[in-house]
Amino acid sequence: MEDSAQNRLLIKGGRVVNDDMMQDADVYIEDGIIKQVGTNLHTPGGTRVIEAKGHLVMPGGIDTHTHMQMPFMGTQAIDDFYTGTRAALAGGTTMIMDFALPQRGESLIEAFHRWRTWADAKVCCDYALHVGVTWWSDKVAQEMEELTNEQGVNSFKMFMAYKDTWQLSDEELLESFKRCKELGALAQVHAENGDIIKENSKKLLELGITGPEGHEMSRPEEVEAEATNRACVLANQVHCPLYVVHVMSKSAADVVSSKRKQGHVVFGEPIAASLGTDGTHHYHKCWRHAAGHVMGPPLRPDSTTPKYLMDLLANGDLQTTGTDNCTFSAAQKALGKDDFTKIPNGVNGVEDRMSVVWEKGVVSGKMDPCRFVAVTSTNAAKIFNIYPKKGRVAVGSDADIVVWNPHATRVISAKTHHQAVDFNIFEGMEVHGIAEYVVCHGRVVVEEGEVRAISGMGKYVPTPVFNPHVYGRLEERERANAPCKVERAPYEGPVAQLNGQG
Ligand code: URP
Ligand code: ZN
Ligand code: ZN
Ligand code: ZN
Repeated sequence: MEDSAQNRLLIKGGRVVNDDMMQDADVYIEDGIIKQVGTNLHTPGGTRVIEAKGHLVMPGGIDTHTHMQMPFMGTQAIDDFYTGTRAALAGGTTMIMDFALPQRGESLIEAFHRWRTWADAKVCCDYALHVGVTWWSDKVAQEMEELTNEQGVNSFKMFMAYKDTWQLSDEELLESFKRCKELGALAQVHAENGDIIKENSKKLLELGITGPEGHEMSRPEEVEAEATNRACVLANQVHCPLYVVHVMSKSAADVVSSKRKQGHVVFGEPIAASLGTDGTHHYHKCWRHAAGHVMGPPLRPDSTTPKYLMDLLANGDLQTTGTDNCTFSAAQKALGKDDFTKIPNGVNGVEDRMSVVWEKGVVSGKMDPCRFVAVTSTNAAKIFNIYPKKGRVAVGSDADIVVWNPHATRVISAKTHHQAVDFNIFEGMEVHGIAEYVVCHGRVVVEEGEVRAISGMGKYVPTPVFNPHVYGRLEERERANAPCKVERAPYEGPVAQLNGQG
């Protein structure tokens, strides 16, 4: 009886929201899978009922970009796979996509397994892994194949910044894009010009600008836009689909949007930080506060950027929302107290992303609840080829569901959040939209504000290659745009002799 009550769940009287429709319906769940959606459902005895009248019943959020417990810049992100995924659930996110990032020269497969070991022991929600191509060689190309064929990886992140560690040259980018194309994988880029950042950082330090504002000054918007454009051109030239992670500026977003208008297969991911706050904080008088906002590419010191990115997200120019959740405590940030280039880069977001997007997107009138579902869950599931298992409230889908109270409010604060980090970039923001119940694999993991997550409860979700949502039109596009020889009579006239000079 106990068991069946645990395995059978009815979410009753709510409004089911998918990316393409809303309907008043009950949702019946058994053994972690959605079994019925509709009205007047017949459900067995012993079924637990959640009353959802006046609430929205939506697919659990998918955060496309996290770095739990990542070793980075001489330290390690303080939110690990336990605290990070527990916080994710608290905010209505039921799946994260993290990054296995090898050191330069290290085996990609070894890095992948290291991340799997860390995550499997601790995750409270499901997760997938992108893998970083942080250096280039034949071995890397070979390992990419093994990761796609045997380990369920369908996305690789290439860095155009972090010179001397992870940055790839244009030639290496091109090779890695070609390899992604051959394997049916999606290429991701961290788009910033690392050479310019290095040059500017040196100059700023010489001028005595050592504080967090130097981080922002060293990489103005065009440094991101240039790299975004370059990545789009390189990927398009070799017919490789591209996903631009952490889109932080208007001009980078404009590049993605205009390339899409030109027919490129490219996707753009703004993050909770770029949608919910801005880079004026780098100039705050409190060092800790300013350093708390340091991430790359930087938040822009312009209060209109978040609204602009939200408009593009609402209207289909940008597609998903991640967080780049990569958190460091005050003491960790202080590694760079005398030199902004040593401040560990990263901010929070995994817990608050859903509320921030609801507040800035839906409450502001920029998007309706269907589009909210699209940009917080469904598009991610489609782009990473796990739809409709994830990203949809429908019969047969995983029972990853958030019962959303659209009217309730809360004030975001580091004092009350579930994350391990001692700072929150959204501190003091009042948001509507609260995850009142969260169901993960059919288990009620959040109940009236209480999180009942169990370490290691989540599962690794393999992501298959040759995704029709991404590769569906690529072959045709390549064929339609293939170079075509001009048939003509051969030239019969005189030909000059090479003079052997120059
Ligand atoms: O500042 C950031 N973004 N930290 C995490 C690493 C990355 O580049 O995504
Ligand atoms: Zn990055
Ligand atoms: Zn990142
Ligand atoms: Zn309620």
